[in-house]
Amino acid sequence: MHLRELLGRPAYRGGVANEEMRKGWSVGGAGWVANQRIFDAVLGPCSDRLLAEAAPTPGQRVLDIGCGTGTLLEAAVAAGASAVGVDISDTMVEAAQERVPAADVLNADAQDEDLLDGPAGGGFDLVLSRFGVMFFDDPTAAFANIRRACAPGARLAFVCWREGENAMFTLGTSTLLDRLEPQPEADPAAPGPLAFGNPERVRRILVDAGWSGVDLTAVDTVADFGLGGTDGVEERLQVILSGSLGRLARAELEPRLGEQGWAALVEEVRDELRSHLVDGQVRFPARTWLVTAENPAVDP
Ligand SMILES: C[S@@+](CC[C@H](N)C(=O)[O-])C[C@H]1O[C@@H](n2cnc3c(N)ncnc32)[C@H](O)[C@@H]1O
Repeated sequence: MHLRELLGRPAYRGGVANEEMRKGWSVGGAGWVANQRIFDAVLGPCSDRLLAEAAPTPGQRVLDIGCGTGTLLEAAVAAGASAVGVDISDTMVEAAQERVPAADVLNADAQDEDLLDGPAGGGFDLVLSRFGVMFFDDPTAAFANIRRACAPGARLAFVCWREGENAMFTLGTSTLLDRLEPQPEADPAAPGPLAFGNPERVRRILVDAGWSGVDLTAVDTVADFGLGGTDGVEERLQVILSGSLGRLARAELEPRLGEQGWAALVEEVRDELRSHLVDGQVRFPARTWLVTAENPAVDP
């Protein structure tokens, strides 16, 4: 029996360590759900590379950390694996569970949730994540907790953003940033999408959490927003406006500029995007790490 059948609609299970993150992703999840088609197309090459490396097999027990709307869960189930997703965002969990009814999706904090206290039945064989592991307040504690839920010899494979220039976080945002109060300089290691950019930091976190055979491979793919022949401007715009910067900009600027002023500003964002088209499309390099490791057969 699936966990959700035992519990009904999943209730949030977790402590307070990542409470701000939980609130942020509960709201931010709505944008990911609405734009799932765009994210899956744009991040498709990253998923393909990750799944080629991880290669889930029939009967394997697979855990997806920060599963979002369930892209990897769907792939794991399609491969015949038994899939469990964990995500701190209720919005994401609801969408993932609806999309992949055969998976069990927990609304919990992967940093401190007892992930064995569920449907794993003796430990996971494979842990996956697509951009879902960079948000922990204490990443070493989180990866130690995740490892505790794994069978000896289990494999870990995830993709995260690499340090250096990354248009995913800059293209089309300067028009909005120019109108907002200067944003505080972000600590590169602070929980957030870029927190795993530095390879030495990632290696140290995983080794300290007890993982062995840690390997990072630089993977460059192309993030292409031109879906089905479009130029990708509207797709990229949707992603920006539904993200944290877009929501902040709208909340602060629309009341000041009025509806028409806000619409004019959005048009400026479109212009910014149009001025950076590559071969007629919004398209740029996506610089990531593909990270792999193993749970030692004997505890270190
Ligand atoms: C960038 S999104 C990626 C979602 C999904 N993996 C994908 O690629 O579409 C990051 C995800 O990590 C989840 N997340 C952040 N902190 C988490 C935590 N402490 N425990 C579980 N999930 C978390 C967020 O709710 C969000 O769904």
